[in-house]
Amino acid sequence: MNLKNKIAVVTGASDGIGKEVCLKLAKEGVSLALIARDEERLDEVKNKCIELDSPKVESYVCDVSDNQKVNETVNKILVDFNNVDILLNIAGIWQELNLLENIPDEVIDSVIDIDLKGMIYMTKPLLKYFKEEDKEAIILNVSSRSGVTAQEGQNIYTAAKWGVTGFSESLKVDLKDSKIKVATIFQGGTNTEMFNKTGEHFDQDKFIKPGDLADIIVFMLSRPPQIWLHDARVES
Ligand SMILES: NC(=O)c1ccc[n+]([C@@H]2O[C@H](COP(=O)([O-])OP(=O)(O)OC[C@H]3O[C@@H](n4cnc5c(N)ncnc54)[C@H](OP(=O)(O)O)[C@@H]3O)[C@@H](O)[C@H]2O)c1
Repeated sequence: MNLKNKIAVVTGASDGIGKEVCLKLAKEGVSLALIARDEERLDEVKNKCIELDSPKVESYVCDVSDNQKVNETVNKILVDFNNVDILLNIAGIWQELNLLENIPDEVIDSVIDIDLKGMIYMTKPLLKYFKEEDKEAIILNVSSRSGVTAQEGQNIYTAAKWGVTGFSESLKVDLKDSKIKVATIFQGGTNTEMFNKTGEHFDQDKFIKPGDLADIIVFMLSRPPQIWLHDARVES
């Protein structure tokens, strides 16, 4: 897709990979609807994207695990921008490594609600819009290496990310004859604050740089119409 003047909705835009993707897309002339929960961080990203010459940037405080709020936010975005071409489902949280019997129920709920259900909630109203408008559109979902492999102590995160993988694969089948393209990205450890936010600390020096991953995402989105990169496995 030729990205210039396209409009992208990005979840997880306030930090980490999502923030880096927004900055790169702003440089490509993409207008951006930024979604996350932290208003202050969102506004910082918004201001940077405006400095980088994005034609239009708006931020929306929205918890993707709140289905009603997601629907209200998507409606607001469609009024504000009058169009959407791209949905980037990037928002997600980590589950501190542990055996299942030691994991608090609140963690089980929040990881499944945000990482899996949040993506489904975000996709449903925008997919409906893309179909109603007969749009050439892109939905790109961030899964994880944990969406294709099982790693010790990652039970709930892995369940959510395999869910993301299954959801994305199923969308690809349902949309194969449509103008809507679906992609999934499966990356290994990436050097963001995601782990630290749960109190888990790894030596992240050798992890993927979020800016490098953002370059790959922008590359996937910007392929010419004849081809489509529907998956990327990325490791450091
Ligand atoms: N870092 C890694 O090693 C790694 C590896 C594989 C896959 N991933 C996946 O990559 C994605 C991005 O992770 P990251 O490393 O960039 O993490 P991050 O730096 O912690 O950023 C996560 C983003 O998601 C947003 N978010 C979290 N919960 C949300 C909610 N309920 N509603 C709306 N937004 C929410 C956060 O914003 P607010 O807190 O402001 O809401 C933030 O903008 C996630 O899906 C993650 O699972 C990461």
